[in-house]
Amino acid sequence: MADLPSPHGGSVALDKLCEYATARRHHDIRLDLQRVADLLAPLADNGPPAPEVIEQYGELAHFLELHLSKEENILFPALVSLAEAARAGQPRPPLPFPSVLNPVRLLEGEHARLHELLDRLRVTTAGLAVPVDAGERWRHAYEALAALDATLAEHVRFENEVLFPQALEVERQLG
Ligand SMILES: [Fe+2]
Ligand SMILES: [Fe+2]
Repeated sequence: MADLPSPHGGSVALDKLCEYATARRHHDIRLDLQRVADLLAPLADNGPPAPEVIEQYGELAHFLELHLSKEENILFPALVSLAEAARAGQPRPPLPFPSVLNPVRLLEGEHARLHELLDRLRVTTAGLAVPVDAGERWRHAYEALAALDATLAEHVRFENEVLFPQALEVERQLG
């Protein structure tokens, strides 16, 4: 499992940051997503709030899968080529967008949307309060949802505050 490279490692570390984002952050998110799905599925016939929670969770999970896929298939390969150009002392390589700022702004917007989807789930679940007489299965499902919430918060923090600013800086230095 990749460890977090130094955020002050300069251009050399940009591809390592992408590797870390995929191997650690995205890996953890996918594990949490599957765990919540597995725990919610048997609760489908339990009456309110199960159907609404499951529907909203499904929407969150779908949105998140697309988000991770955009990062892994569009942004990260571009950042790897920027890092390689910087390391080799070459000019900015051609990318599928005018500036890294384009996908970065899009993905920051998706991070904000993730917050909205999580907030909606918090309202539906009354702040992840286990329903009265709900039993252990609900408690486990809500604990897993809380863990996913924390994993996502760290994902957003890492990308918004470390990865994206460094990507923009490396692109700026390449001119
Ligand atoms: Fe990500
Ligand atoms: Fe992201």
